[in-house]
Amino acid sequence: MTQRFPQDFLLGAATASYQIEGGAAEGGRGVSIWDTFSHTPGKVVGGDTGDVACDHFHRWETDIDMMADLGLQAYRFSIAWPRVQPTGTGAFNEEGIAFYRGIVDRLKAKGIAPMVTLYHWDLPQALEDKGGWLSLDTVDAFVAYAVRMVEELGADVEFWTTFNEPWVASFVGYGAGAHAPGHADDVEALTAAHHLNLAHARAYRAMKALRSELQVGLVNNCHTPRPWDPSNPKDRWAAEHIDALANTMFHEPFIAGTYPAVLKPNTAHLTDWSFVHEGDLDEMKGAVDWFGVNYYASHLVRHNPHKAAAVSDVATLADGHKAGANSPWPGDEEIEFLQPLGDQTAMGWNIDPDALHAHLLKIHRETGKPIYVTENGSAWDDAVGADGRVRDDARIAYFRSHLAAVLAAVDEGADVRGYLAWSLMDNFEWAQGYDKRFGLVHVDYDTLVRTWKDSAYWYRETLRTRAIAPASVEIEAPARTY
Ligand code: GAL
Repeated sequence: MTQRFPQDFLLGAATASYQIEGGAAEGGRGVSIWDTFSHTPGKVVGGDTGDVACDHFHRWETDIDMMADLGLQAYRFSIAWPRVQPTGTGAFNEEGIAFYRGIVDRLKAKGIAPMVTLYHWDLPQALEDKGGWLSLDTVDAFVAYAVRMVEELGADVEFWTTFNEPWVASFVGYGAGAHAPGHADDVEALTAAHHLNLAHARAYRAMKALRSELQVGLVNNCHTPRPWDPSNPKDRWAAEHIDALANTMFHEPFIAGTYPAVLKPNTAHLTDWSFVHEGDLDEMKGAVDWFGVNYYASHLVRHNPHKAAAVSDVATLADGHKAGANSPWPGDEEIEFLQPLGDQTAMGWNIDPDALHAHLLKIHRETGKPIYVTENGSAWDDAVGADGRVRDDARIAYFRSHLAAVLAAVDEGADVRGYLAWSLMDNFEWAQGYDKRFGLVHVDYDTLVRTWKDSAYWYRETLRTRAIAPASVEIEAPARTY
């Protein structure tokens, strides 16, 4: 099996606005639901907020220099909607638009392809106050925002993502309540999911009408629910339900104009799905150019009619389902998540490159669309050592095994065209605050100094040679800082 990347394969790294920018009250930025949520006591570990984060708002120029030093070919970042349109409707904020204009221009000057995400969860609070993703007005507002961004940046940005992980935005934000806006209601979660899909479809069409050459995609976090006992039909049913909610619900409408058939019967005790209106699914059909796959860990599920009495699934849910909270899986009353065996990262997530390989082939089979791995990475308890190095061998091993899985999927015919490491640098890890470090680059949150981890050197070598670099590469001590 070859360990080299195909000629046009894009290699880069990813971030998101609320996780790195800071500058929360600067440059005319409005308030987002994550400002409100993180400032609500008890919602984020340690009471951390994104007020300062990595201070990318002030350091973006040297951060882009650092990306160029790493040799990134692509950089995936998100626009904070409230920075460019403080209340989500009405007046746009020229200063905010200029901030992203500057980023795009500098990336291009350095030969780095910008990949823009329009929505990585930081909804303007003013829209949430009017119903958020439960309201069709938010769908309209999103389309208007998307159009304006294409008018501003469309000539220089080819790759666009409407939504990052609509599953998390709807099922964790409106179902489990572990993310902003912190609602905990099964039907709200399903409604929000449908509205996000609708907003994607309408924004896709409006963006393409302006510039047909754009590549507009949707980024999903994949869950890989394997049945505990594949020979047991009830365990297979459990896996199928989770797959439908987590994965298929967010691509089947755009390919076939349908929702997975199992969803309605499996949730009939909760809702009649009257939030889906005549014509919605027709609008969705065909409205996508590519799919992004965010992958971290795999999942093991089984049917358990005694789940309520059993040890619950809380430990294994990757996206923050807390003990005692509503579940992010409507219709899962008899479905239990089990902790897969093997080593775990600092997030408590297992390490399973085979599941990424299988998932890429599955998405290829089910959609036939180009695929980009838009996030993949692992959190570890990294620290700068006495010699100024950050030794993160476990991260290097994680990247190497997962990149090998990607290349194996490519060899087997999956149309995977790029890979973006999560993340460029340590950042605000949502409900986990600054406690969990995913970066190639270490961030000292007191001084805001960036220090290359060993994995940054390893990735630079991978980018330079366009082949998965050996685990040990030449590393400076002390490591580079910015
Ligand atoms: C994804 C998310 C990222 C990042 C990552 C690691 O779900 O898109 O923002 O936080 O998980 O948990």
